Amino acid sequence: MNLFEPDLASVVNLMPQKDEIGQLLGTTAYWTASVRAMESKRNDRLISDQWAEILAGDVGAEWIKQRTADAVLPIVLRTRYFDDFLQRIAYQSGIRQVVLMAAGLDTRAFRLSWPESTRIFELDQPEVMQHKNQILSTDTAKPNCERHVIAVDLTGHWLDRLTDAGLDLRQPSAWLLEGFLFYLPAELITRLLAEIALSASGASWLGFDVINSFMLTSTYTRSWIEMQAKAGAPWIGTLDDPIGFLNQYG
Ligand SMILES: C[S@@+](CC[C@H](N)C(=O)[O-])C[C@H]1O[C@@H](n2cnc3c(N)ncnc32)[C@H](O)[C@@H]1O
Repeated sequence: MNLFEPDLASVVNLMPQKDEIGQLLGTTAYWTASVRAMESKRNDRLISDQWAEILAGDVGAEWIKQRTADAVLPIVLRTRYFDDFLQRIAYQSGIRQVVLMAAGLDTRAFRLSWPESTRIFELDQPEVMQHKNQILSTDTAKPNCERHVIAVDLTGHWLDRLTDAGLDLRQPSAWLLEGFLFYLPAELITRLLAEIALSASGASWLGFDVINSFMLTSTYTRSWIEMQAKAGAPWIGTLDDPIGFLNQYG
């Protein structure tokens, strides 16, 4: 072996395996729960999540201790923004099916009110859903809707699992991908969004947050991008023209 060539076998051994990547990405759900816990304690809070602190646990508490309020403000704002988005759809457009992709430790099914007969489908990795269900059932939390939990890898086949759980694709639905897409490579982002756009019936709604490629290199966002990478949950996926992309799917 040429001494100056990297030993590929050892490089591959050092790379996180699929399970480990999943676990590291799952950790990020504890982080966002810790932000909701922090915001819920403020007098003029934008959201109130009584379960966030216990769901975030020690992992979340340790993470938030090292962040400034400014650094996590975008997470607070997007939470409230998407709360309003989903509530407007539920109460104004008569949609009764809500799909939360990569729901993490989100408690919207419990902390928001929903019109009668609303069904909420929460999808995420098995370990994350198991933790959430365990805490919520110990706390005897009651959802304000019909709640369906689907433990699934969203990079694989998930649509059948959703329809098996009762999502009716002939009826309009609301979809949310919050704090998720930047963990996926660009081709998976477009595949996932296209799959939703092509499967959901007309008059459905889609909400998501994405980053553009500038965010990966800008000096303004460097410390955040480095923090994510160091934690083993790097932001990698960008979409520079989300409006143009969505227009292709009507
Ligand atoms: C930053 S958290 C966001 C969770 C929630 N949407 C929120 O805003 O609090 C990212 C979530 O993506 C989930 N996730 C990442 N890759 C996934 C995959 N391949 N399949 C299912 N869930 C995944 C993680 O488990 C984690 O819960």
